[in-house]
Amino acid sequence: MAVTPWTSKTSTYVPSGFDPGGRSLRAPPFPLIILGVVAFLLWSRLHMPRPALSVAAFEDPLAASNRSCAGFYRLERPRKAVFSVKDFGAVGDGRTSNTAAFRAAVRRLEEFGDKGGAQLNVPRGRWLTGSFNLTSNFTLFLEEGAVILGSPDPEEWPVIEPLPSYGRGRERLGGRHISLIHGEGLKNVVITGQNGTIDGQGKMWWDLWWNRTLEHTRGHLLELVNSENILISSLTFLNSPFWTIHPVYCSNVVLKNLTVKAPLHSPNTDGIDPDSSSNVCIEDCYIESGDDLVAVKSGWDQYGIAMARPSSNVVIRRVSGTTPTCSGVGIGSEMSGGVSNILVEDLHVWDSAAAVRVKTDVGRGGYVTNVTVAGLRMERVKIPIRFSRGSNDHPDEGWDPKAFPVVKRVLIRDVVGFGVENAPVLEGIEGAVFEDVCLRNVTLFVTGKEAKWHCEFVAGEAYGVSPMPCDQFRSNASSSSSWCGGF
Ligand SMILES: *[C@@H]1O[C@H](CO)[C@@H](O)[C@H](O)[C@H]1NC(C)=O
Ligand SMILES: *[C@@H]1O[C@H](CO)[C@@H](O)[C@H](O)[C@H]1NC(C)=O
Ligand SMILES: *[C@@H]1O[C@H](CO)[C@@H](O)[C@H](O)[C@H]1NC(C)=O
Ligand SMILES: *[C@@H]1O[C@H](CO)[C@@H](O)[C@H](O)[C@H]1NC(C)=O
Ligand SMILES: *[C@@H]1O[C@H](CO)[C@@H](O)[C@H](O)[C@H]1NC(C)=O
Ligand SMILES: *[C@@H]1O[C@H](CO)[C@@H](O)[C@H](O)[C@H]1NC(C)=O
Ligand SMILES: *[C@@H]1O[C@H](CO)[C@@H](O)[C@H](O)[C@H]1NC(C)=O
Ligand SMILES: *[C@@H]1O[C@H](CO)[C@@H](O)[C@H](O)[C@H]1NC(C)=O
Ligand SMILES: *[C@@H]1O[C@H](CO)[C@@H](O)[C@H](O)[C@H]1NC(C)=O
Repeated sequence: MAVTPWTSKTSTYVPSGFDPGGRSLRAPPFPLIILGVVAFLLWSRLHMPRPALSVAAFEDPLAASNRSCAGFYRLERPRKAVFSVKDFGAVGDGRTSNTAAFRAAVRRLEEFGDKGGAQLNVPRGRWLTGSFNLTSNFTLFLEEGAVILGSPDPEEWPVIEPLPSYGRGRERLGGRHISLIHGEGLKNVVITGQNGTIDGQGKMWWDLWWNRTLEHTRGHLLELVNSENILISSLTFLNSPFWTIHPVYCSNVVLKNLTVKAPLHSPNTDGIDPDSSSNVCIEDCYIESGDDLVAVKSGWDQYGIAMARPSSNVVIRRVSGTTPTCSGVGIGSEMSGGVSNILVEDLHVWDSAAAVRVKTDVGRGGYVTNVTVAGLRMERVKIPIRFSRGSNDHPDEGWDPKAFPVVKRVLIRDVVGFGVENAPVLEGIEGAVFEDVCLRNVTLFVTGKEAKWHCEFVAGEAYGVSPMPCDQFRSNASSSSSWCGGF
């Protein structure tokens, strides 16, 4: 892997406030100042080399303390054409369906794709809509007080083909409901605003799930398939029917400064799930939900193995939140296409089932390698660090009982946990490789009875770990491998 410095001198971010571009261009309060800034931005674009999309340095993840998602996303010029959804007849009364308006708007704005791009503004108001697709060279901008409301009518979320790396809908056989906001095969998309809200009104879907009348797999709130150069920032996502934000088969995706919320006991309302995607940077997000805050995935059993599309180069930084039944950061359980080069930095989790969890099983195949967790703080977590297996959750009878996952080179360091109920539980799989797990500087104040680590079929090294780890972890510094290191 080519190693390039993380921070680029020519940062791809412009100052916040100009990031979305269009609104200020449309009605500038101080035309001259704005014009000056725009002129400067255009000037600087011409005079500064466009930075190549760089891949982060995972070799020494602690080398730079000043990293940002710059380098993962190439900033687009302000869009040439700016429209409001009202121009297409939308009504923001919270009752009128605006599905046709959103779809017509995107069809129209698509025409500007090769003419400098276009931006669709959503003004203050409550804009009820069914599913609509995005287009390339496009910005969706939610002004302050703008709320996009997902339709409570399942027909407004049509059923589409399952993803090839899952072979079927995740919850039900066959197709799956499309996401509320959807994109496929897109380039250069920005979804941002002044903390506008996208509310999936998922209750109807959770009820269908709870009362077992769900016919097809639930839709996501936002899904981008096979797309690149995506920026999603400064928004609030509420009440997704299913996983909230799902980039799948994507590259160069930045998710920044987001609030994601769903009720703490809503089913499978994961926050952000990078899936078979590379160069993904998630930064400064607050998430509370009924499932993992962030879950890195790459396909399910034989379908994920066949597609072999890994998730790699994923940075998860300064994410905080709570999930009473799941984990702060989860890897898996669908990881059959492989997961590598994951950096989790400054994660803060409280009142949760786990802080970091690697979920695999027999039949998954694939691998989880080069994972670094550096800087993890937790309060009142049941199992702070967990490797788990045996969920017996397979797409169909065609899964391969000989397909073992490989878990290798997992570094977990600088961890402190208060009011933790149990010591870590690390359960590998008999006959599978779970090795080179390195623990450094881990301090857990365990309140429950189970202050002893529980380890099976796993091996590694540990330095400066309290309570004392299990015997499977060597702790003689003289034989430590260089990447783990001793004190
Ligand atoms: C780190 O970032 C801050 C704020 O962007 C900047 O002021 C500072 O100079 C940077 N430090 C280094 C060492 O690059
Ligand atoms: C998007 O804009 C770029 C130029 O910035 C252009 O090369 C490309 O063709 C556009 N894509 C579409 C789908 O119009
Ligand atoms: C949106 O995209 C999906 C997948 O590409 C497609 O199946 C669906 O028909 C599109 N919907 C609209 C309204 O264009
Ligand atoms: C984060 O988003 C909020 C609105 O949600 C905005 O006011 C703030 O400027 C954003 N911060 C950055 C660093 O972009
Ligand atoms: C954005 O809105 C959400 C929900 O209304 C709120 O919880 C959050 O604090 C807001 N963020 C900012 C930066 O104002
Ligand atoms: C299940 O939930 C849906 C959505 O709320 C509702 O329409 C339906 O009547 C419920 N079915 C049963 C059997 O409770
Ligand atoms: C993991 O990191 C090592 C050392 O940098 C590298 O040789 C290896 O290719 C990486 N593995 C993957 C799957 O990226
Ligand atoms: C150990 O981790 C804590 C955070 O939990 C950090 O503040 C401290 O600097 C680390 N110590 C060393 C020697 O790295
Ligand atoms: C390190 O410890 C392991 C087991 O804990 C032992 O097998 C090995 O011989 C030790 N190596 C050295 C150099 O002491």
